[in-house]
Amino acid sequence: MATQIPTPTPDDKFSFGLWTVGWQGVDPFGGATRPQMDTVHALEKLAELGAYGVNFHDDDVIPFGSDDATRDKIIARFRQGLDDTGLVVTTATTNLFSHPVFKAGAFTNNDRDVRRFALRKVMRNIDLAASLGAKVYVAWGGREGAEYGASQDTRVALDRMKEAFDVLGDYVTDHGYDLRFAIEPKPNEPRGDILLPTIGHALAFIERLERPELVGVNPEIGHEEMAGMNAAAGYAQAIWAGKLFHIDLNGQNGPKYDQDLRFGAGNVRGAFWVVDALLEGGYDGPVHFDYKPARTDDEDGVWVSAAANMRNYLILREKVRAFRADPEVQAALDAAKVPELSVPTVGDGEGWRGLLDAEPVDPDALAARGAAFEHLDQLALEHLYGVR
Ligand code: GCO
Ligand code: MN
Ligand code: MN
Repeated sequence: MATQIPTPTPDDKFSFGLWTVGWQGVDPFGGATRPQMDTVHALEKLAELGAYGVNFHDDDVIPFGSDDATRDKIIARFRQGLDDTGLVVTTATTNLFSHPVFKAGAFTNNDRDVRRFALRKVMRNIDLAASLGAKVYVAWGGREGAEYGASQDTRVALDRMKEAFDVLGDYVTDHGYDLRFAIEPKPNEPRGDILLPTIGHALAFIERLERPELVGVNPEIGHEEMAGMNAAAGYAQAIWAGKLFHIDLNGQNGPKYDQDLRFGAGNVRGAFWVVDALLEGGYDGPVHFDYKPARTDDEDGVWVSAAANMRNYLILREKVRAFRADPEVQAALDAAKVPELSVPTVGDGEGWRGLLDAEPVDPDALAARGAAFEHLDQLALEHLYGVR
């Protein structure tokens, strides 16, 4: 009998970037396959499906270059749409990649005038985000980076990236905004090599900022897997560092262009372990999707795929919970000595001297011990396959 999968409710804290369901299907090889989507219509449909919140780029809601009167009208209608649907603005971000002005970067463009324009564009949208109650501000540096060795000095680019986040940290602090930044790493696309390409690069960078407490990461499953990384391990390290401020869930089939598939439709084992890392790590932020509905589909397909992101998360959440609750799994974890990893290697007060004085061990006897991982992983796989 198939497991009953709950329907999504706002308690699940599912949220969507408006640019996802609004994606018109434009790619480097073809034009739009879907008409532009009205923002309030998107809010209404997402609320109908059980979503909790939304995320947006400034330009998703307010067309680039709108005059102030138009901008104010649009914002008023957006606010009304949020009030009418009950959706919250969990997050916001800035489009620093579409307009040609950013063709050679934003915060790290060699052209100082562009860098200054980019920072002002971010500050303006931070004001809007804060006024709408967003708690996290995402920074995906899609145009930061280079294609050629000579065109950007990476060390200097990192200086400018640090300067940007330090200025924005001052801006948020001086305005008393309850807002934190989440850097979203990506290895490449659209730039040949993007600056801060993985979670590890971003975590190391954050530690060098003047206000590191204001900056965390927004890891995307597909971006880590594009780089051949294990997304679940990256999420776990971000949690370990106290820096998992937001998440971009989606699907990816191995190192290739950024597929942005609906969550659960790419590397399924990887998705299972990401959900396990989030649940085991106590992540309680928005369960946010950044995906692209297949270019092949019409608007019906958009809403089928939006619902499927949430359904796939709920399916995997049930499976991970069943895995963790399975007594045979607990026994297999014990047999694999997984709990023993939590025991400090050096005893209380033992220190290196005590370690050196300890009884010697026979490495060959230790080597003869089987790790018992095969049984443990087969149990996980059988939960994933739905036969346990
Ligand atoms: C991508 C990125 C973007 C960002 C979005 C929010 O590969 O295009 O994932 O979708 O997540 O711009 O910053
Ligand atoms: Mn992406
Ligand atoms: Mn993303």
